[in-house]
Amino acid sequence: MSEAARVWWRDGTIYQIYPRSFQDSKNDGVGDVRGILQRLDYLVSLGIDAIWISPFYLSPMADFGYDVANYCDVDPLFGTLADFDALLAATHERGLKLILDFVPNHTSNQHPWFLESRSSPANPKRDWYLWRAPAPDGGPPNNWMSNFGGPAWTFDEATGQYYYHAFLPEQPDLNWRNPEVREAMYAAMRFWLDKGVDGFRMDVLWLLFKDEHFRDNPPNPDYSGPPAAWSFLPVFTADQPETLDVVAEMRTLVDQYRDRLLIGEIYLPLKELVKYYGAESPDGLRGAHLPFNFQLIQTAWEAPLVAQLICDYEAALPPGAWPNWVLGNHDQQRLATRIGAEQARVAAVLLLTLRGTSTLYYGDELGMPDARISPDQVRDPAERDQPGVGKGRDPERSPMLWENRENAGFTGAGVATWLPMVWDWPQFTVETEDVDTSSMLTLYRRLLALRRTRPELYSGVVIEVSEESGVLSYLRCHRDKRIRVLLNMTGEDRWIECPPGRLLLSSFLDRDNIVVGWIELRRNEAVIIDLDV
Ligand code: GLC
Repeated sequence: MSEAARVWWRDGTIYQIYPRSFQDSKNDGVGDVRGILQRLDYLVSLGIDAIWISPFYLSPMADFGYDVANYCDVDPLFGTLADFDALLAATHERGLKLILDFVPNHTSNQHPWFLESRSSPANPKRDWYLWRAPAPDGGPPNNWMSNFGGPAWTFDEATGQYYYHAFLPEQPDLNWRNPEVREAMYAAMRFWLDKGVDGFRMDVLWLLFKDEHFRDNPPNPDYSGPPAAWSFLPVFTADQPETLDVVAEMRTLVDQYRDRLLIGEIYLPLKELVKYYGAESPDGLRGAHLPFNFQLIQTAWEAPLVAQLICDYEAALPPGAWPNWVLGNHDQQRLATRIGAEQARVAAVLLLTLRGTSTLYYGDELGMPDARISPDQVRDPAERDQPGVGKGRDPERSPMLWENRENAGFTGAGVATWLPMVWDWPQFTVETEDVDTSSMLTLYRRLLALRRTRPELYSGVVIEVSEESGVLSYLRCHRDKRIRVLLNMTGEDRWIECPPGRLLLSSFLDRDNIVVGWIELRRNEAVIIDLDV
């Protein structure tokens, strides 16, 4: 494919940065915008194409930035708008793209819009949020539950009504049925697009609308214990049909700029997920370019299930839709902890050889596991408010590991980091792994370099997806070129029949030979074979 025909978000790889934990430039133990700028060259050397930064907007930090008090400013903890402008310019100078995290579903309860809205039932902004009278017994208007535990309704003494929040009481949900709300949010999107940001990852996009009749959610017949929010099916609080109209409006807005990207955070089964690509039109699909596909996180790590998943996902994609795959993020247990250090290398090969845009979570390229968080170190409200539920997200948010000195170079010596480091961190630093020719970092660099240069990998079709004795296998083809990928998802050695070819890469980074007929896959080994030699 000619360079001109390449589309950055389709052929490239996205790298997620959780700004609190990437690099601290101010020595206060929390990462910031200038810190990201200092580490851009590392990202170039890694070989990714775009960064997505979790929220850095003005925020009281009840949910660490996912509670926004001003959509068009940077929180002083993270820096200033001038710092952001410098970061954007430096990112673009290096040929990278920058994607912002946008939080359309809810604001902070300290946002001026909400302060106005709660001031009086007659306030013009009252209808910007979801206010309801109490039930006849004075309790909440219906049975809707917060995703962080407890009722999703909080009573406001002063005005005698409840407001709805899908997450914390500090995160009131906006009323997307109100055209003024839409206009205000679109203005905020334009603010950043005008600056030149390359796209948005839209937070909880499938939750934007709630049933207009506020009907009770039905009980979940399969409910088997906490978190309490799962005791009801979210029939009236998620994935409402009106949402797709708004996604189409967002797409139209983004398309008014050149080459920009719309990603949706959407936790839904495949059939529902793919609706978010939007309806067909003469200009193509009218939804998100990439509705995040979290199925690899949610599917058990077993070859038959992953083979089935790839087939089901490919079959579910509407014509013209481009696939994508995600292995981790700031809300999920880290990959190396979830499936183990050995299989995390197999997963790296899978992610970077599947058809579709890959999104990496910072630190996964080092094989970083979850950090251990003692009860007195818990920061995440999702854990704090439902102790023992085990849903806490602090372990996957611990500081990035750079150098072999105190605090791993994340912040200055002697500074208390906002979350503890991974306990055995020196083995996972960039400094340690950089010089180790078989490290996870070297594996990621090799995979990213291979993916960048081979059209079979960045754009070809995926066919012959199969599984045998725990080995997942598929072919990536572009024109007459073919690459076979074999992934041993077991802890045992396997002999696999394979047409002759040249081994381009083993996940152990210790061989690149000619394959004739059969290949022995060692336990936990994945290989990439060029069949056209
Ligand atoms: C998204 C974010 C998560 C946040 C929630 C509420 O799921 O990824 O971190 O807590 O939205 O904003």
